[in-house]
Amino acid sequence: MKVLDIVIEENIKIAEDIYLLSFKNKYIAENYKPGNFVNIKIQDNSIYPLLRRPFSISYIQDDVVYIGYQVIGVGTELLAKKKKGYILNIIGPLGNNFEIPQNIKSVSLIGGGMGIWPLYGLARQLSQNKVMFDVYLGFRNKEKSFFIEKFKDIAENIYISSDDGSIGFKGNIIELFTSNKKNYEIIYSCGPKVMLRTLKDLNLNNQIYVSLEEKMACGIGACLGCSIKGENDNIFHVCSDGPVFNIMEVNLNESKS
Ligand SMILES: Cc1cc2nc3c(=O)[nH]c(=O)nc-3n(C[C@H](O)[C@H](O)[C@H](O)COP(=O)(O)OP(=O)(O)OC[C@H]3O[C@@H](n4cnc5c(N)ncnc54)[C@H](O)[C@@H]3O)c2cc1C
Ligand code: FES
Repeated sequence: MKVLDIVIEENIKIAEDIYLLSFKNKYIAENYKPGNFVNIKIQDNSIYPLLRRPFSISYIQDDVVYIGYQVIGVGTELLAKKKKGYILNIIGPLGNNFEIPQNIKSVSLIGGGMGIWPLYGLARQLSQNKVMFDVYLGFRNKEKSFFIEKFKDIAENIYISSDDGSIGFKGNIIELFTSNKKNYEIIYSCGPKVMLRTLKDLNLNNQIYVSLEEKMACGIGACLGCSIKGENDNIFHVCSDGPVFNIMEVNLNESKS
């Protein structure tokens, strides 16, 4: 992990309120593993917003690092205005990663909204390792959908849902996953807490790994800002113990978001 000044290569709108930002950085490219994130200081010459903002590294190609984000509040609104050539200070790569066991055969990725970003980097890694996998992508609506074609290029099967039915199955992505009745040895998932909780409540026998999003400040395990409860009333720091956890380890009812 390093503190780095990076130069924005592109920061483009790819769907409603959704942007893809890229920058070239050899250190991040060489040290990245799917699931890692970066903590970005969004304003350079101002103390506001004070706290850095965490974003998953979506994928890396030829030393170019891609990060996708949705405009939510003050930080992401400011980020969306930054143009090619702007220098951002980032810390990364941070956090743990999705482990890919040897000889794994049936895999599914289940992503909801912004949780889809880190799964794309994982999908590329699986594809490189010649592991077949299915992808389930849940969006709010068609206008907020993204990366479908990119996943189609590397996934065995792709299943889409949207809350309003404007694209794919009408309903949430866990409903679509459940109705498919397909069994997988391992499931990797990232998305809103409610989606992950529903996945956990299915009580499946598969190995399930989830990447969690918690409000963060330092991003390096120093401030307790991102603490969540484990199933044994132990405490995890999402930034340094995660963001990827075995779903059985974490208490998704107790966490803050
Ligand atoms: C490990 C990790 C990976 C993430 N990856 C992505 C990603 O790839 N794409 C993406 O769009 N979003 C991602 N998020 C969520 C993203 O960090 C928030 O949407 C963003 O910080 C909101 O900032 P804001 O200033 O626009 O919102 P504000 O609401 O103004 O933020 C206020 C404060 O809350 C924190 N915050 C708000 N929402 C979240 C949230 N959901 N998670 C964590 N902190 C939050 C901010 O860091 C800030 O400190 C990730 C979060 C984590 C923890
Ligand atoms: S954000 Fe500070 S401990 Fe995790």
